[in-house]
Amino acid sequence: MNVETREKLYEGKAKIVYETDRPGTIVQYFKDDATAFNALKKGTIVGKGVINNRMSATLFERLERAGVPTHYLATLSDREMLCRRLDIIKIETIVRNVVAGSLAKRTGLEEGTAITQPVVELYYKSDPLGDPMLNDEHVRMLRLATPAELTWMKRTALKINTILKPHLARRGLLLVDFKLEFGRQSRKLYLGDEISPDTCRLWDSRSKEKLDKDRFRRDLGGVEEAYQEVYRRLVTGEVSTK
Ligand code: TMP
Repeated sequence: MNVETREKLYEGKAKIVYETDRPGTIVQYFKDDATAFNALKKGTIVGKGVINNRMSATLFERLERAGVPTHYLATLSDREMLCRRLDIIKIETIVRNVVAGSLAKRTGLEEGTAITQPVVELYYKSDPLGDPMLNDEHVRMLRLATPAELTWMKRTALKINTILKPHLARRGLLLVDFKLEFGRQSRKLYLGDEISPDTCRLWDSRSKEKLDKDRFRRDLGGVEEAYQEVYRRLVTGEVSTK
């Protein structure tokens, strides 16, 4: 596809967003840079940009087929994705199937504890504030989204979970939790950002080995190998012999 990238609109921790010559679109460029704990920890995960770009594309296509509107339009190269230009809603929506990370800290439940009904959480997407947790009333008070938008976002987040969880399970991956971002274009809502080992917790179904960014956050080693393993299972479709 012939798309020209123009001015850099925004550079985030893991991606750069460019304007294009096509109105209403942007290009997401996926970097190998990794940060954790609100960028207190910085590093590089070699090849991550390519893996996150390709994996996000595969999952966005699957979600579109299942009726979830996403910002994904086309893959332009190993690290570049053409997307709809969204007005991003400043809420991070998290869905959890298993206790891990900040939920383990907040509740005292052991990491790995199963959750019968998926839990949806909302966080304020604000680096200066360190992404604090919000409830529906805070969302209303801050006018981050209308009540109808919030209802749609939560319902869509759960729908995405029901699509992705079995899809990943068939590939030997337990979808522990994940983060979504939504945005508007011409008053319609779309799923934005990315779906990758940066934004999901993925454990090997059998061994419960962590195959996601927690390996970087917690200095577990084997970071690149974990990303490559997820890529193999989800994108190239190879069956693991592990
Ligand atoms: P948490 O347990 O640290 O709250 O993380 C929940 C999920 O959200 C996990 O899958 C990782 C993802 N996540 C992000 O995508 N970005 C972030 O900045 C953080 C803290 C978590």
